[in-house]
Amino acid sequence: MRVLVTGGLGFIGSHTVCDLLESGYDVTIIDNLYNSKEVVLERIKEITGRAPNFYKFDVQNKEKLEEVFKKEKIDAIIHFAGYKAVGESVEKPLEYYENNLDTTFALLWMMKKYGTKNFVFSSSATIYGVPDKVPLKETDPRKEATSPYGESKVMIERILEDVSHVNKDYNIAILRYFNPIGAHKSGLLGEDPNGIPNNLLPYINKVAVGELKYLNVFGNDYPTKDGTGVRDYIHVLDLARGHVLALKKLETNPGLVIYNLGTGKGTSVLEMIKAYEEATNIKIPYEIKPRRSGDVAINYADCSKANIELGFKAKYTIKDACLDGYNYQLAEEKRKNS
Ligand code: WQD
Repeated sequence: MRVLVTGGLGFIGSHTVCDLLESGYDVTIIDNLYNSKEVVLERIKEITGRAPNFYKFDVQNKEKLEEVFKKEKIDAIIHFAGYKAVGESVEKPLEYYENNLDTTFALLWMMKKYGTKNFVFSSSATIYGVPDKVPLKETDPRKEATSPYGESKVMIERILEDVSHVNKDYNIAILRYFNPIGAHKSGLLGEDPNGIPNNLLPYINKVAVGELKYLNVFGNDYPTKDGTGVRDYIHVLDLARGHVLALKKLETNPGLVIYNLGTGKGTSVLEMIKAYEEATNIKIPYEIKPRRSGDVAINYADCSKANIELGFKAKYTIKDACLDGYNYQLAEEKRKNS
C-alpha cells in the first residue's frame, strides 16, 4: 500500500513516515521545504533502512501534483503540509487561508480524478476554541478558532465532512492533535524551528543548550493548579503511531471518522519545567511575564474514542519527551558546529 505524505519532511510528518516505512507501507513524500530540511530525507533512510520517494514542490501546484498521481498509484494520503504558526497566522491571514485550503483542494481533486479513497487530515485541538469544559471530546462543538490558523482547520474539517457526504466510498480520518513534543530516540529527527520558538518545548530546549537565557512564563494567574497554562503534551512518536493506527482503521471502510490524539492528562508550564529539569538534570531559569494574548487557561483531551476504536494509547511520558527533545537539540547543535 502506497501512502502519499504531504509535508513528510516536517516535524510530525517525518516521524510518521518512519513509522509507516517500519510498518511496511510504501511512502511518497511531497514537501516544499518551507518549514523543513531536505537532510531529513537521509535521516529517515538512516533510521528505517528504507527510502521513500520524494518530490520537492508546493502541493498547491496541481500540474506537478498530477504528475505524481499519474506516475504512482496512491492508495492513501496523509496531509500534513500547511502553515501552522498561530501568531503568524494573525499577521498573515490571506497566506494561511490560501495555503492551507488550496493544498487540500488540490489533493481532493486528485483523489476524485485518480480514484484514491483514503485521506488522513492533520487537524488541531485549536478547533475547539476556548473550551467550556475539559477534557475535550470529539462530540464537543467546533468553535470560532482564536486565529486564522485554527479557523483554516475548522473550514477544512467542514469541507471534508461535505465531501464525505457525496462520496460514500471515501474513508477520511480527521486527527485533532493537542500539543506535540519530543523527538526521535535516535536524535536524528525533532523540532528545530528557525529563530525564536513560539512553542514551549522548543523554547525550553534552546534555554537548556544555552542558546536562550531563560524562559518567559506567560502568566501565572490562570484558574489552574499553579496559575500557569495547562496543556495536553503528547510525544511525537505516539502521535506518529496514531496516524498509522488511523490508516489501518480506514482499511475497514468507516467513512469519515474524527479522533483526538493526546494523552488525556493536563500538564502546567511549571510542571513541565520541573519535569524537564528532572529528566535532563539541567536547571531551566524562568521569569513570570504577563499572559500571552489568545492563550486559553486549560486544554486537554478525552482520548477514549481513539483508544476504543483505534487501540491508540500514548505510551511515552512527559519526561521521555523532555529528554528526547533535549538530546535532539544537543545533537543538532553538534551537527551545526561540526
Ligand atoms: C503551551 C503553553 C503558553 C511558550 C499551539 C497551537 C496548537 C499547536 C501547538 C499547531 C501555554 C506557555 C509557551 C513560552 C510559555 N500548534 N508558553 N512560554 O499555544 O498550547 O498550542 O501550539 O498545531 O494548534 O495553538 O502551545 O507551546 O505555544 O504554549 O509560558 O515561551 O506554554 O502560555 O500555556 P499552544 P505553546
